[in-house]
Amino acid sequence: MDRGLGGGDLREGDEGPKGLGARPPVLSRETLFSPYIGMRDGGIMVKLTEEMKENVKNAPVWSVATASKAGEPNVAPMKTVWLIDDETIWIGDNYMNKTLANLKENPRACIYVWGEGVKGCLQIKGDIEIKTSGPDYEKMYKDIKAKADKYPAKSLIVMKVTDVYTCKPGDDAGAKLL
Ligand SMILES: Cc1cc2nc3c(=O)[nH]c(=O)nc-3n(C[C@H](O)[C@H](O)[C@H](O)COP(=O)(O)O)c2cc1C
Repeated sequence: MDRGLGGGDLREGDEGPKGLGARPPVLSRETLFSPYIGMRDGGIMVKLTEEMKENVKNAPVWSVATASKAGEPNVAPMKTVWLIDDETIWIGDNYMNKTLANLKENPRACIYVWGEGVKGCLQIKGDIEIKTSGPDYEKMYKDIKAKADKYPAKSLIVMKVTDVYTCKPGDDAGAKLL
């Protein structure tokens, strides 16, 4: 998903269109019988389906929503985004300000996945870890700098996916998928 600002090279091995034909129903059996339904958001990692991953990769831009500890909301567009594996999304922090402040106070984020090339609409929530050193940070730093030296690559935002909802209009709008 090389969409500029450095994204794209670090995602897991190319998955190809595998599984694209097998589109699950909006409320799948797994969803209906999920042991996690009714629990509060957060804490338990879930695995994105092949179709969800394809949609994440194809999204033209990712809107990253955060909230301060006091509940002040913020949303910002991000393009330096990598799908690393079934449950991990990386976001490159070049210019985050309120987003980063919120994540330091309240390490949860939500992105929505919608736009050209995306089937339906997904809201993906996750737990956040902020990295400013270590192998993952170095990998992100090198990748961003390889795109353009002007990008500061200040920190790596690691999102571990905990909840997925559909935001497609219709009877199932807002339903929990994972
Ligand atoms: C299309 C688009 C893509 C962007 N991608 C990123 C990004 O990947 N990483 C980043 O740190 N900032 C990115 N930005 C800039 C931030 O969204 C912008 O600086 C925003 O104001 C962040 O400030 P905030 O955290 O206070 O909301 C992007 C901006 C636009 C318009």
